[in-house]
Amino acid sequence: MARSFANRLKGLPAPATIEMARRARALKAEGKPVISLALGEPDFATPPAVVEAAHQAALAGQTKYPPVDGTPALKAAIARKFTRENGLDYKPEEIMVSNGGKQVIFNAFMATLNAGDEVVVPTPYWVSYPLIARMFGATPVYVSCREEDGFRLKADELAKVLTSRTRWVVLNFPNNPTGGVCSADDLRAIAEVLRQYPDIWILSDEIYEHLVFDGAKSASIAAVAPDLKDRTITLNGVSKAYAMTGWRVGFAGGPADLIATMRGVQGNATSGVCSIAQAAAAAALDGPADLVQEMVATYGRRRRMVVEALRAIPGFTCAMPDGAFYAYPGVAGCLGRTTAAGKRLETDHDFALALLEEAFVATVPGSAFGHSPYLRLSCATADETLQEACQRIAQFVEGLQ
Ligand SMILES: Cc1ncc(COP(=O)(O)O)c(C=O)c1O
Repeated sequence: MARSFANRLKGLPAPATIEMARRARALKAEGKPVISLALGEPDFATPPAVVEAAHQAALAGQTKYPPVDGTPALKAAIARKFTRENGLDYKPEEIMVSNGGKQVIFNAFMATLNAGDEVVVPTPYWVSYPLIARMFGATPVYVSCREEDGFRLKADELAKVLTSRTRWVVLNFPNNPTGGVCSADDLRAIAEVLRQYPDIWILSDEIYEHLVFDGAKSASIAAVAPDLKDRTITLNGVSKAYAMTGWRVGFAGGPADLIATMRGVQGNATSGVCSIAQAAAAAALDGPADLVQEMVATYGRRRRMVVEALRAIPGFTCAMPDGAFYAYPGVAGCLGRTTAAGKRLETDHDFALALLEEAFVATVPGSAFGHSPYLRLSCATADETLQEACQRIAQFVEGLQ
């Protein structure tokens, strides 16, 4: 058999986050004492009341095919959430529920992109935006967010990369991997630029909106610039804020025509999201905010501890993130040197690989997020584990020649 695969997938790498986690697991299976800070997954448990809501939904017979775009109960909870937390009113036909936020992006891009279109993605970026865009023949175009700007997107930088081919602009603040948060004023300036391009769709990925620290405030572009709401997809989900990564519930608010087209895509791909998970997500959105508060306090404390430990390592720089649960240290000062095992470190990828193989700490190199030389460390793990990881990184760097 001539084993051929779709041209649209040619040259697409596997996300480096998943690749590093795979290597870490392989070393662990060999009995090595691996600490993995590679994946972005809360270490909290899903709140018991949410699990109980799923249990009750299953017992009550909510076990049939759900509507493709979400159960009426979850859509109502999502509408309440958008009104309460974002100042955004969406009607039921302007809301859709997908298999994680990731499927929202997949649906939206599949519904709109043609070969040759451009998708503007600020760097550092979450790995999936450019990969999904490329699956549909579009070209990712990058705009840099700098460490000295707190990794916020500057409107004048965005203006430089927009063209008549731009179909989407992706905004992801609080940002994965940097934790950068754009203020309402930043978004107002960005909106001013976008007004000059009425044919561009806007993807506002707000999945980390609750995870902000030290008074930082996340804002929704559709609320800050209501005239852009009819071309904005406001994306969110329960994975990060409610420690529900495995339940696979993401959602979006957006204009009815785009949502209807996305529903068509999803109807032919996966149909509606697991009915029981949708009941759980509704309980999470309508439930008390205590767990979110507890997580924010914990992540805020841990990220300070990690950033301070990393800043003390010679050759490292590290901005204090305003949001999300990652640290994104710069490692430029460690490149060009050789590890204790004789590996020369030319890139952040070399650094991350050697750190994993010699100190058994799994991180993700900045190259995976389009912004080098940096590393991403997830702070969503126990304090002692983070302390041990930072000590190992410090020792590893001390051993560089
Ligand atoms: C920025 C960002 N957006 C969206 C997602 C998708 O999350 P999920 O598909 O679990 O809802 C993630 C997950 O890592 C993320 O980091």
